[in-house]
Amino acid sequence: MPPSMALKAKMYVKRGTSAPWYKGRDLTDEQRNKFRATTIASQAAKAKAVNGECVLPKHPIPVATFNPLTLMPEMAKNGFSALSMFSGCGGLDIGFDRAGFKHVASYDILPEAEEVLNAAHPDWKVFAGDNGDVTQVNWKQYRGEIDVLHGGPPCQPFSHAGHQNGSDDERDMVPELIRAALEAKPRAFILENVSGLATKKFASYVKKVIFDAVEGQYHVHSFLLEAADFGVPQRRKRVFFVGFRNKADFDRFERPLPTHSWDRNDTNLPATMGVREALGLPSIGVDALAPTIRSGWTGPRHTTSIVNSATSMKQWDEIAVWPNGVAADREAAAAFVAKNGHFRLSIQDCMLLQGFPESWPIQRPVYKALGLIGNSVAPPMAYAVAASVAEALGIKRSSAQATA
Ligand SMILES: C[S@@+](CC[C@H](N)C(=O)[O-])C[C@H]1O[C@@H](n2cnc3c(N)ncnc32)[C@H](O)[C@@H]1O
Repeated sequence: MPPSMALKAKMYVKRGTSAPWYKGRDLTDEQRNKFRATTIASQAAKAKAVNGECVLPKHPIPVATFNPLTLMPEMAKNGFSALSMFSGCGGLDIGFDRAGFKHVASYDILPEAEEVLNAAHPDWKVFAGDNGDVTQVNWKQYRGEIDVLHGGPPCQPFSHAGHQNGSDDERDMVPELIRAALEAKPRAFILENVSGLATKKFASYVKKVIFDAVEGQYHVHSFLLEAADFGVPQRRKRVFFVGFRNKADFDRFERPLPTHSWDRNDTNLPATMGVREALGLPSIGVDALAPTIRSGWTGPRHTTSIVNSATSMKQWDEIAVWPNGVAADREAAAAFVAKNGHFRLSIQDCMLLQGFPESWPIQRPVYKALGLIGNSVAPPMAYAVAASVAEALGIKRSSAQATA
């Protein structure tokens, strides 16, 4: 591991946030004052609501219709072991686990990742904080022990929402996942990222850092997937790179096909629910997929908003849902009615819209929960990829009996 990477990871810790790779933008005094004024006004309004002084009537608390677990019936263990890098709150981990893989270990530099994963699966071995820093690990220790390696390295270097500095961004950890694959030599590796990494801008980066780096050792497929095509009530396009050591496994691999359809172009597929239907909100004659949910750790400051653009705010407006000032739970959301009367989202709602079972133990504070959720891979999409990888490695789908 290059020592400079360890230094960079430590440097982020010093910036005073629990997300060591988070890089807030430098703000002018004017911008900072504006943010402060908004925060103070919204905290005052929230305090009033908590004291029962809300002028608008409370919303009834809805009961969600959507249960992401139905999209991921638990498959029998397939005998393959998995290692998870950059695990976050476990989007990829849930998908691989429910598709029958057994995790050997999960790594993330965030202590919050460990809290969530340990609470969800006390039997999982999670390395977090300094112990979870992937730049410090010698992956040869896993040689012969793991069948697949999966991970979604930080997306900020490639995201349209950021500066797209690629390898010049110190958060670029794609080479670390490739190093892990070359050292541990699993039968397959799965690398996920934002669709920005699949654009022309990063074509030479992808060639050099992924394809050329593994040449002669792995055969690599790459493809884009849309979360809504797997029943998730959100537009969220992601790129996957799936590498196989064995050419026969590579040839057998088929990228997952859509299981659901939002626009009903394919009427043979079940419909993906819109936000209102998924969350159990009363019908208003219009519904839509959630625009891509943004992480609470992107942008100039930590945030409790999941809006990633003016266009997406318009889309939330059209379905009368308020995506700013996300509440810690449904009771708090119902008590703190948005000024325009729109339905205020809670952490549980955002989890559902990302395809997480609402029992998954992602806890407040809200910005951290949204940081983890907005960074994650939608579990049903991860499940589809995991099932395709298992098939390529030799598991027949019919023998992967669902157990739940
Ligand atoms: C895009 S998120 C991955 C989310 C995860 N795949 C999921 O589905 O929930 C990237 C993760 O990389 C982690 N990370 C960043 N630098 C790291 C490092 N040096 N070592 C380990 N994890 C790191 C971050 O804490 C973050 O959770």
